[in-house]
Amino acid sequence: MSREHFLSSLGSIFSRDLRPDTVENFLNLDSLSSGVNQRQTNDAFTDKWTVYNKSSEKHKLYEMQRQWYLQLYGFDSECELAEFLRSKKIIFDAGCGLGYKAAWFAQLAPDSLVIGMDFSDAAKLAADTYKGLDNLFFIQGDISGTRFLDGSIDYVNCDQVIMHTQNPDKTFAELSRITRPEVGEFACYFYSKKALPRELLDEHFRSYCSVMTSEELWQMSEQLTELGKRLSELNVCIDAPDIPALGIKGGRCDLQRFIYWNFIKCFWNPELGKETSVVTNYDWYSPSNARRYSEEEVRALLKKNGMEAVCFHQENACHSGRFMKRDSA
Ligand SMILES: C[S@@+](CC[C@H](N)C(=O)[O-])C[C@H]1O[C@@H](n2cnc3c(N)ncnc32)[C@H](O)[C@@H]1O
Repeated sequence: MSREHFLSSLGSIFSRDLRPDTVENFLNLDSLSSGVNQRQTNDAFTDKWTVYNKSSEKHKLYEMQRQWYLQLYGFDSECELAEFLRSKKIIFDAGCGLGYKAAWFAQLAPDSLVIGMDFSDAAKLAADTYKGLDNLFFIQGDISGTRFLDGSIDYVNCDQVIMHTQNPDKTFAELSRITRPEVGEFACYFYSKKALPRELLDEHFRSYCSVMTSEELWQMSEQLTELGKRLSELNVCIDAPDIPALGIKGGRCDLQRFIYWNFIKCFWNPELGKETSVVTNYDWYSPSNARRYSEEEVRALLKKNGMEAVCFHQENACHSGRFMKRDSA
């Protein structure tokens, strides 16, 4: 299918006041938020993605993320995902970062229109990287106010994003609004609530971090990475007791993972590399917006927005799933 075909599909999902017929593959709808925390969050991600875009390690992370994506959203294989995507005419990657998942979708479903949107400058970086794909467009804008028509999107993907928006419940309602009822699907990932010591430290520490300079944040992320590395190199497993009052689950666990899940994020993964580990720690403490959800809160949000789970997945880090809008729900 031609570029003109995809441009005209892009035009068809916007309300009448917006006709993006002249864009190449990038449209800037909005790069400024009125919310202080959202502005700080956008700056933190602009900083993170500008640095990481230059890293030679990023393709290893992309591959790990693609494999994880299949698990998070109930696909047995990339072939199954491709078949699913090909049945969706319009695909929206909400909070696309550097755009590698949007590009993956566009390659797996070459006859579908794929749109990636991000509030940070990553949207422009993504557009520059993926100019060659005729069915792929990037928009700099706010996913909590997309300006797409009701029910105009066949597959909405919001992977590792919603908790960074100013009001995640409002964003969820917006993404439900644009999902085509009965046939469309909305995939979403929510950070889960962790053990009490980690929650308390994270909450306190994140507000402290919001006044640190970017340089200080990168320095701290390096230090946390080094802590994770040293703990991990001890190669010690502990038999931890259950401490229900603190939300700590017992069992046999590597010491670094035990501290990571229950006390402080100190990510270290030698296979992904040092730069990726540092960026992962930076990603956790630098954005002011980072809401965590309990399973009950996620299920209540689905109910409130008339969504039913097609699949629901849980692991230490998150709750995730694919949801459908049923008229009767
Ligand atoms: C952890 S990254 C995930 C990026 C991508 N989905 C991925 O899986 O690699 C979160 C992204 O959400 C974006 N974001 C946060 N709030 C947003 C908003 N209100 N509208 C659009 N993007 C937003 C950030 O700029 C950032 O790129």
